[in-house]
This record gives sequence, structure tokens and C-alpha cells, in this order.
Amino acid sequence: LMADPAHPHPPFPHRHLLGVAGLSPADIKGLLASAEDAVSLSRQVEKKSATLRGRTQINLFFENSTRTQSSFEIAGKRLGADVMNMAVGNSSIKKGETLLDTAATLNAMRPDIIVVRHHAAGAVALLAQKVDCSVVNAGDGAHEHPTQALLDALTITRAKGRIEGLVVAICGDVLHSRVARSNILLLNALGARVRVIAPSTLLPADVERLGVTVFRDMRRGLEGVDVVMMLRLQLERMNGSFVPSVKEYFKHFGLDDAKLAYAKPDAVVMHPGPMNRGVEIASDVADGPRSLIRDQVEMGVAVRMAVLETLGRRLPNAA
Ligand code: CP
Repeated sequence: LMADPAHPHPPFPHRHLLGVAGLSPADIKGLLASAEDAVSLSRQVEKKSATLRGRTQINLFFENSTRTQSSFEIAGKRLGADVMNMAVGNSSIKKGETLLDTAATLNAMRPDIIVVRHHAAGAVALLAQKVDCSVVNAGDGAHEHPTQALLDALTITRAKGRIEGLVVAICGDVLHSRVARSNILLLNALGARVRVIAPSTLLPADVERLGVTVFRDMRRGLEGVDVVMMLRLQLERMNGSFVPSVKEYFKHFGLDDAKLAYAKPDAVVMHPGPMNRGVEIASDVADGPRSLIRDQVEMGVAVRMAVLETLGRRLPNAA
């Protein structure tokens, strides 16, 4: 990715990307501008740049992933990096090696960037303290998923032409969602008005302190909304303590055409994936003309290219 010499990318003052918290609006806008360049590159027949040639990227995923892991791999390869996907299931973590010993071991192999997903909030930041390279948070527990928020912002900007002043509703399992937290932080930083819509049992106690308006029913919450973001019920984080009835949940909080009609006529629908059709979203809506779900996936590659390239510019001996 080559910045237009007349409009060079602004400096990015961080060695790692651990969360949206800590990024300034200028940092976010710089990453989104780089991602626009990556969209252009990714739509060419020859999708390669040499920006990270000779660099080593390790993807270290302790939780399942389809979109994030594959798009980080594609992104690194498009930039010319040597990408290694660590097979955690076959690693010595299964023999009891700790996260920090694993980090120290990989660090000794002199990688340039490590991309980490972990089930514990804060684990990625801890790992970042123990290595010499850049670290990217690909999702830590219910804490943050910064590249998801960036790709969502890029998707919204391309669909709506702006973020400032838009009304965005984030609906569903906010309590267990790192996507919701990162999106709330990023959308507020760029001047959107953010609502959350969820049953009380799926809202963090202090959610209003994040700068959102809380609604507990879809009819009132979706009124006047430009962007509807649906969230998956994260049953794996609930220890069986929620969901008396999935059918009942869909009736009240699942997005179908009837509920989408409460939002603005040109409102768009998003979902970070993976989706549970018929639980939080109806297939007619997920596959319908207002859905941006496939666009989100495409923007995921572009945003991850932008993040890798931006951190790569800060590496020792970068061009
Ligand atoms: N949105 C997201 O993080 O998807 P994956 O879990 O498939 O990576």
C-alpha cells in the first residue's frame, strides 16, 4: 500500500493495536484511509504489495474463528508477509505450557507481528508486554475486537457516506460482546449516536457510562435508526444461565422484516458473524437487499491489511 505522496498517511503512535480505547479519532481516520487503499488493491487482478516482504506474521488463535483468522492470513499475504498460523490445538499449550511461556517461545523466533485471539479479557495486552514485536488484538474475551469495529466503520462509511450524526442501534447480547464494546467506543469517537437494545439480562450494569442510550424493546429502539447491528447470543460465555427459550428471544429481539420496518426506510443491517439464523436474525433480513453482511467480510480483509501495514511502518528498519 502506497500512500498518495500528496496525502501521506498520518503517523500512528502505537506499537500494538490492543483496543479502540486509546486510539484518537485521527488514529482511527488514518487506519480507515489506509483501508480504502487496501480495498482498491484487493479489487485488482494482481492483489499483491511488497509492503511487508521479509516480515513474519504469526496468527495465534486460542478461540475459534472463520472471518478474523482467514482475513488476517489473506491480509498478511497480500502485503507480502510470511504468515504462520499457529495450530493451537496441536501445540504444547495442550501439555500445560502457559500463555506467557508460549509468547516467549514464539518471540525467540523473531516475528514482526503476532495476531492474537484469546478467551480471557486482557490476555492479549499481557502477551504484548512480553514480546518485542507488534501485537494485534483479534478479540479478547468480552473485552475488545478492534479490527471488527474498524471494518464496521469502513462498511458504514462506504454505504452511508459518513458516520458523524448517524444513529446506530446495537442489538442483542451486549453483555458478552467484545464487538459491541469496540463499536460503541469507535462510533462515539467518530460522532455517531449509539443506542443499545437488549433485555436487561444481556446488558452490562455500567453500559450507559460508555455513552449509549439504552432501550429494552425493538419497536422504540429502532425508531429513526440509520444502522442496525445485530449480535449473536454468545451461549458459550453464559454457562447455561440465559435463554429460557430461543424462540421467545427471537420473538422479542430477533430482527425480521416487521421489526426492521421500525427503522428508517433506508436503514442498513449488519452482523459481525457468525450468525444464528432464526435466533437473532431472520434469513430474509440477513440475505435481503439492506444487508451489508458480505460487505463487512470484504472490508475485514482491507482493514486488516491497513492495520498490518500501519504497524509495519513502525517496525525497525521499515522502508
Ligand atoms: N466477527 C468475527 O470475529 O468472526 P469470527 O469469530 O469468525 O472471526
